[in-house]
This record gives sequence, structure tokens and C-alpha cells, in this order.
Amino acid sequence: MNQAVILAGGQGKRMHAPIPKPMFQVLGEPMLEWVLGACERAELARICVVTGYEADQIRAYLGDRCETAYQAERLGTGHAVMQTLPFLNADTDGNTLVLCGDAPFIDSDTIRQSLERHIAEHNAVTVITACVDNPSGYGRILRTDSGIAGIVEEKDATDAQRAIKEINSGCYWFRTHDLIDLLGRITNDNAQQEYYLTDTVAIALESNLRAGAFCSQNPDVVLGANDRKGLLALNTAARMAVLNKHMANGVGFVCTDGIIIERHVEIGPGTEILPGTILRGRTVIGANCVIGPNCVIENTVVGDNVKLNTVQAYDSRIDSGVKIGPYVHIRPDSHICSGAKIGDFVEIKNSEIGEGTMIAHLAYLGDSDIGKHVNIGCGTVTVNFDGLKKSRCEIGDHAFVGCNTNLIAPVRLGKDCYTAAGATVTTDVPDYALAIDRGTLHIKEGYTLRKFAKSKEKKDQ
Ligand code: UD1
Ligand code: CA
Repeated sequence: MNQAVILAGGQGKRMHAPIPKPMFQVLGEPMLEWVLGACERAELARICVVTGYEADQIRAYLGDRCETAYQAERLGTGHAVMQTLPFLNADTDGNTLVLCGDAPFIDSDTIRQSLERHIAEHNAVTVITACVDNPSGYGRILRTDSGIAGIVEEKDATDAQRAIKEINSGCYWFRTHDLIDLLGRITNDNAQQEYYLTDTVAIALESNLRAGAFCSQNPDVVLGANDRKGLLALNTAARMAVLNKHMANGVGFVCTDGIIIERHVEIGPGTEILPGTILRGRTVIGANCVIGPNCVIENTVVGDNVKLNTVQAYDSRIDSGVKIGPYVHIRPDSHICSGAKIGDFVEIKNSEIGEGTMIAHLAYLGDSDIGKHVNIGCGTVTVNFDGLKKSRCEIGDHAFVGCNTNLIAPVRLGKDCYTAAGATVTTDVPDYALAIDRGTLHIKEGYTLRKFAKSKEKKDQ
């Protein structure tokens, strides 16, 4: 069977943070997730991740998604692979792909194509390489007339070798039983006194095994991050690749300032994305929408012809023709039905807002089921928490909720009913009724004049 080993034990000292480097994010996902996802999409039968520095963080992230091996001391990439010997020995028949957890852009097509080449050429090892303008920091590919001759690390390279532009991506296919044999033969006799996995190429050739290179046409597949600047470069490359994909599908961007769209987001044609908009997770946006400026939309499904201006929405559904904003917070498990309008400074949580309902300004609606064509007045609050438990409010179709109404949950307003401004509703209101809760308004004529006259008297004394 064909399987993968992902190296993720290193610390990434130059990141200056107690996080294993493969857990640093590119477009909202750990680099490790990008690499793991590519292996999963290539349908490799088994995957083992080597952990080391802050191993618990990686184990917690992976759960039981794949196997892990622990590298107690970081003695190099070859040493890291040695820690997976029990995993490798469990199935020695096929091929093993070794990848770096800090180079996120490897893709399933490259994995499959390089495997085909690896098998067709009967190689013991096939290195995935690329030619780049700036090879600094990478291992350089040494070639002779008969093909690849080895890999030399930058710190061990001569000036002439440093000028080579073909670099080692850090991904390789090995015949599994050859890999096990080669691992036993690498030493740490080099500038960094590490066990370099890269030495396996020269060792294989010395033993008359075949070694090959698969040079990727897309140089981005090899990009890795060794410091914060490198991570920013990866984010920039990933961000622009996503924006270019959407533009090709008919999505408009007047400018790209502050626009971050994670790679699994889907957007329909004719939609415009305005500056400062961040679209995350499994968000789906329909056609002909205007999203932004300044929206954060996460795991939310948005229909067609929706306008969102300065909206934050999480784990919710917003149906077609809805207009929301500015300054609106849609919290998880909300469903805004088609044609609803939600204006400034409104917060909605775990609620259904019916078709055509208007919530023009300054309201909190939590744990509520609101019908169709309801009018929610300014300052309406669903009082859903009594300090111990949350309860729901229900509002019938065509209800008119007056300004500054407090709905003390659990409570139900019937259909076509009214609440008067300032009502605090503690019991259910039947269909077609008015709930009014109002003391007598007393008018005290001349009150201000008397008050000021009194205070003047006091001062004169
Ligand atoms: C490595 C390659 C280099 C290649 C580059 C591509 C070696 C000796 N060099 O260099 O030829 O161009 O990747 O990005 O292999 N790791 C461990 N345990 C360790 C050391 C590293 O798990 O003891 C992991 C790291 O977490 C990282 C990966 O292996 O994910 C690569 O290690 P890193 O130290 O970044 O290698 P490079 O110097 O970049
Ligand atoms: Ca690296």
C-alpha cells in the first residue's frame, strides 16, 4: 500500500512562539492541515505524523484522524523518519511519501503524478523538486549527466552549489523497504550534526539503487515557511491564488485590501466583495450579492442577492434577498429568511427570523422564533436568560413589536398582535391583541421654574 509520513516535530525557533511550526496558519488553517488534506485527497492508505516540540498541540488537533510517532529529541529530518519505523514495518510492500509539515502547498495531483513517475522509473527514491528564482534556505539538487546525484543542504554547500536553482521540496516518494534500509545508513556527519533525510539519495545511488527527481511545473508547491516573513509570503500567495480563482468565476473585487477568503469558501458569479471582508471556513455565498465592506462571515450559507455591510455572521443561514447592516452581529444557529431586513446595531443569536421581517435598529433577539413580516421596534430585547437558564420567545406572523419592548422568556406573542412602546411582556399575548403596560403619565406644570427659583433662594441666603 502507499502511505505518507508527515514531519511536524520541529520547533520553528524563528517564529518565537510556543507553537510547533506546522500549526502556524496559512489562510486560517494550520500548515499541517494543508499537507494532511493533500495526502487524504490523494487517497493514501495510511498517514503518520511525526510530532516532537509541543507534541500535545498536534495530537489534540489530529485526534484519531491519523497515526502519530513521537520524536523526543530533534536530531534532523532523517532521525524524524526513523521514529516511524514501527509504522513503516507494518506495511513494507508499497511506497512511502515523506512530506514536511511546514510546506503547505503540496497538492494531490503532484502527489499522484510523482508516484506514477516513481513507480514507472523503478526508483528507490523520487524527490519532488522545483526550479525557483531564490533558492536560499533550501537543499539544492545535484545532477550529473545520468540524472540526480544527491542533495546538498545550504549550510554544507559550496558557492557553486548554492547557485543551483533546482531545490528539494522536502517531499519524496520512497519504496518502503528501501527507505527502512536507507534510514539505517545515514549519519550526522555534516554542518548541523543532524541526520539528514536528504542523504538517502546519495546512499541509494551508491548502492546501485535508482533515484529520480520529479520537477514540479508550479514552483509554489515547494514553498515553506521558516520564519514570520516566510509565513506572510505563504499567506499572500495563498490569498491571491484564492482571489484569482473567484475572479475567474465572475466574482468582483474593486480592490483587494483586507480581503481574506479561505480556500473552501464558495462564491456565486456577479457577487462583489468589498474591502475589509474576511470569509472563513465552509462559508457559501450566492450570486449577485454585495458583501462588505468590513464583514466577517464564518461557516455561513448566504443566498443570492444578499447585501451585507459591516456584518459579523457565524454558523448561520442567510437566505436570498436579505439586507443586513451596518454593524450587525449574527451569532451561531441563526436563520434569516428571505427578504428580511436587519439594520444597524442588532444582535441575533440562535433564532429564526421569518420572511420579510424588519428589525431596523438597536435590538437583541436571542433564542427566538420570529414569524413572517414582523416589525421589531427599536430597542426590543428578548430577555432570554434569567441568570440560571435560557428560554425561548416566539413571535407570530405580522406582529408589531413596539419600541423598547422587553419580552421576558419564555413568552409567546400571537400573530397580528401589537405591543405598545415600552411594554415588558411577561405573559403570552393572544392573536390580534394589544399588550400595553403603562403607568399614568403625570404632567407637573411649571416644575422647572419652581426648582430653579428654590435653588436661587438657597444661594442668596
Ligand atoms: C528541509 C530539507 C531541505 C529542503 C527543505 C524544504 C533536510 C535535511 N533538508 O530543510 O533539503 O529544501 O526541508 O522545505 O531534510 N522536523 C522534524 N524533526 C526534526 C527536524 C525537522 O520533525 O528533527 C520537521 C520540521 O518540523 C519540518 C520538517 O521536518 O516540518 C523540515 O524540517 P526543517 O528543519 O524545516 O528543514 P529545512 O531546514 O527547511
Ligand atoms: Ca523548513
